[in-house]
Amino acid sequence: MDQFTVVCVTTAALWLGWRVWSFTLWPMLHPELPRRYPYLVPVVGHIKAMVNHTGRVFTRGKAYFGNTREIFSLVVMGEELYVVTNPSDIQEVFKQAASLDHDAMAVDILLDTGMTKETITQIFEPVYRSKNYIKATHDDFRLQMHPGPRLDKVQADFLAHIDKSLRFDKISGPMVKSLPTGGKVVSLWEWCGQILIDSAIEAFFSRALYEANPDMLQDFVSFDEESWKLPYRLPKFAAKKMYGSMDKCILAISKWLEYPKEKRQAAWIVDQMIEGLDEVKVTGSYQRGAMVFVLFRLVNTNAFRLCFWCLAYLLFDQELLNVIKEEMQPAWNREGEGSLDMQYLLDKCPRLSSFYEEVLRITVDSVGARVVMKETMIGNKKLSAGRKVLMPFRQGHYDPEFFGSDAASFNPTRFLDNEKLTRSASWKPFGGGQAWCPGRFMARREVYMFLVVVLFRFNTDLYSPDHRTPEFPVLDDSYPWGGILTPKPGQKVLVEISKRV
Ligand code: HEM
Repeated sequence: MDQFTVVCVTTAALWLGWRVWSFTLWPMLHPELPRRYPYLVPVVGHIKAMVNHTGRVFTRGKAYFGNTREIFSLVVMGEELYVVTNPSDIQEVFKQAASLDHDAMAVDILLDTGMTKETITQIFEPVYRSKNYIKATHDDFRLQMHPGPRLDKVQADFLAHIDKSLRFDKISGPMVKSLPTGGKVVSLWEWCGQILIDSAIEAFFSRALYEANPDMLQDFVSFDEESWKLPYRLPKFAAKKMYGSMDKCILAISKWLEYPKEKRQAAWIVDQMIEGLDEVKVTGSYQRGAMVFVLFRLVNTNAFRLCFWCLAYLLFDQELLNVIKEEMQPAWNREGEGSLDMQYLLDKCPRLSSFYEEVLRITVDSVGARVVMKETMIGNKKLSAGRKVLMPFRQGHYDPEFFGSDAASFNPTRFLDNEKLTRSASWKPFGGGQAWCPGRFMARREVYMFLVVVLFRFNTDLYSPDHRTPEFPVLDDSYPWGGILTPKPGQKVLVEISKRV
């Protein structure tokens, strides 16, 4: 045997030995530990699938273990991640909040957003309001965004601004793609983003933010387009657009925070966050801006995407559109043109509600994450300290046992036909536990407002520049967005808008 053959044979023998040990013998010796979903290259593990097809790696892992929904593990660049898919195990993870910590996971997000280790120490010191800054901020998120007077205030500003911006003469700028006689052709994605992000700026941050950076909205959109890359810690040159635009947004917020309070009228939550930073002595301008940018991102990243998908589903299905419009009509007529009865939409439109939940189900890809602080049993599996836990909720939203044999397809009356579905243990579009999205109330109202105003104020027709039949955009599930998914690159929905006579 020549030297090359010896090296090859030895490598193959070692590789085979490693496979047998890792994926057969070790699990037999330790049935209490989550089994590893096999991979080919030691250490590297599932990195390619995690970056490129995150959703699929979870579904395949689940299928590999016979769809028993047992907790399994994935190795990615030497790190072992536990994947929890069983709804009862997920519930248990939420309950064991002390040993399976959400905030330890958030540290990575804060570091990725440009915070220093010193700031992290300050905001995790238990010196603020008998807890730490981060825990107090979770409470404040809920106080601002759960139903009550604080939500009423910010919501009234938000919805009034959506209404004000959805006027024919205000449809302008790069989102307008052509100007046929009497109409305007807009990119639906850009229109939803423009209106909803601008309205959130108005309601949460005030227009003074545009003084700090007139391109704030565009810079955020540029960041948002590539924001899935952030957790991968790529070198700056490999994700220039994302890092560059995030930096511009943070610098703008930092500058805005230095304006006198009367000038930068902000929502209660923003003032609370700033007072808290003063108390825990985070004084660096960029550090304060980065903290508030975390909120800016949470408020803005998902709602406009959901709005886009809702409108796309309606515009591509005339029959469904007619049914939903007929149900919404009394909410629009009641107060006359210009204002609408949101309570009617919320209480009296079961078809609209079912349609909204179904679009959410099809398009959302939220993933809950925790860090194991001390050895913890979940079901019959022992989770070891220091490992991360991932809960990919999307696979549960497509589980036929909970959502029926047609779970893979779109059915706008699914949640109407079975009203218990929103209470199903497998339904987690907004996550759960400590960081259960407090914006879920606002998200629904934003989307309803946008839909009703657009559909009753304008004529809306799908538009194709080459007169071909427009095609429904394909959902891009290849990137780990952690929220509402985008359409595949280049798949635009163009809509011709004209005034309703
Ligand atoms: C369809 C739209 C939305 C989806 C799918 C969504 C999803 C989520 C998810 C999954 C989380 C949990 C993240 C985690 O576990 O770390 C979250 C947190 C959060 N969301 Fe949303 N969200 C949406 C809309 C909104 C809106 C409109 C707002 C505000 C107006 C908002 C504000 C927040 C905040 C502040 C948190 C952090 C809560 C905390 O850490 O205590 N979200 N969202």
